[in-house]
Amino acid sequence: MRESDLIKVFSEIYNRYPSVIAKAPGRVNLIGEHTDYNDGFVLPIAIDRYTNMLVSGREDRNVRLYDLKYREGDEFNLDSVEHTELHRWSNYQRGIAKVLMDKGYEIGGMDVVICGEVPEGAGLSSSASVEIATLLSFKELYGIDIEPLDIIKLARKTENEFVGVECGIMDQFASLLSKEKFALFIDCRTLDYRYVRVSLPGCAFLVCNSMVKRELAVSAYNERRRECREAVEAMKKYLPHIESLRDITAEDIKKFGSYLPEVLKKRAEHVVYENERVKKAVEELEYGNMEAFGDLMNQSHRSLSELYEVSSGELDLLVETGREVEGVLGARLTGAGFGGCVIFFLKESSLKPLKEKVLRVYQNKTSLIPQFYEVTPSRGAFSEEISA
Ligand code: GLA
Repeated sequence: MRESDLIKVFSEIYNRYPSVIAKAPGRVNLIGEHTDYNDGFVLPIAIDRYTNMLVSGREDRNVRLYDLKYREGDEFNLDSVEHTELHRWSNYQRGIAKVLMDKGYEIGGMDVVICGEVPEGAGLSSSASVEIATLLSFKELYGIDIEPLDIIKLARKTENEFVGVECGIMDQFASLLSKEKFALFIDCRTLDYRYVRVSLPGCAFLVCNSMVKRELAVSAYNERRRECREAVEAMKKYLPHIESLRDITAEDIKKFGSYLPEVLKKRAEHVVYENERVKKAVEELEYGNMEAFGDLMNQSHRSLSELYEVSSGELDLLVETGREVEGVLGARLTGAGFGGCVIFFLKESSLKPLKEKVLRVYQNKTSLIPQFYEVTPSRGAFSEEISA
């Protein structure tokens, strides 16, 4: 929907005009999966799909919301913010408000219209984009003085403590700090980051949604996190200095890996080698070595499927079918796994044949119709005043 149409909708609902629009994108991770909560490395880009929030401040402490996707409204008061089961989508706004106030920031009420373009349940971080857009709305309306890294941390805290998903820090980071034409190389321990230019002439990224909602995702995700913690505990016997899987080298895992229970060994191997792959991928991108970059994506998928065991029949089918198409240089699941999306890296000339083949084969075998999104590294979140 165009901004002018959104303004019209807002004024019809609330009988007044919005004063600010906040926009926060979804993200797709190029490589570095399940490494963020192990203090490791990730390389996401923001995608050109945003959560748009039009807002206007209020004199009182009520927050009134209307979500265009759900065609539903909700309302809460800042003096008694509670979790809701009735309109679960509004827990993000509730959570952000609560976390901000708990930190001592002074905010007031607002009227809100939400127009989400990021597909939900697809592993493209629609929730992080809602959190960041909400935070920027409060910041802009109430002049909150808050640093980008604190915005990221508070958004993640909301997801962890209010929504109840133990996610890492990548999604909120990517949604806020991404830049057009660049990927974001993040060290999830130090939170240092740098921009890596994604300039691969004649190449493209295509995201394909398996249309399988990530139902198992939350419990399996939390289970993987537990396994990683257990792997660290077990490895401490041989490597007392380690604090997380980030501290284990490829050498270490070769030497001591076989002392771990089989499952923990596999999880640790994935994380250790995935971190190596991210660093390598940054170099290959910088040198413009497209084949080598694609190859690292392929290795990442194999590792996620065989060692970390977060793939699914559908995701493997998409990856394998796509790779058979000439000009596809790399393919892997992206995000947490168990459904959601696959990302292909390919020659532009192969976009059409890839879509055709994947559509035909996937539909035939699963009766599901996959969705495609061509993605380019896009601008991170921002807010603007709306002039009357
Ligand atoms: C989800 C989480 C991220 C990250 C990925 C897996 O998207 O929100 O923090 O852990 O899974 O790489």
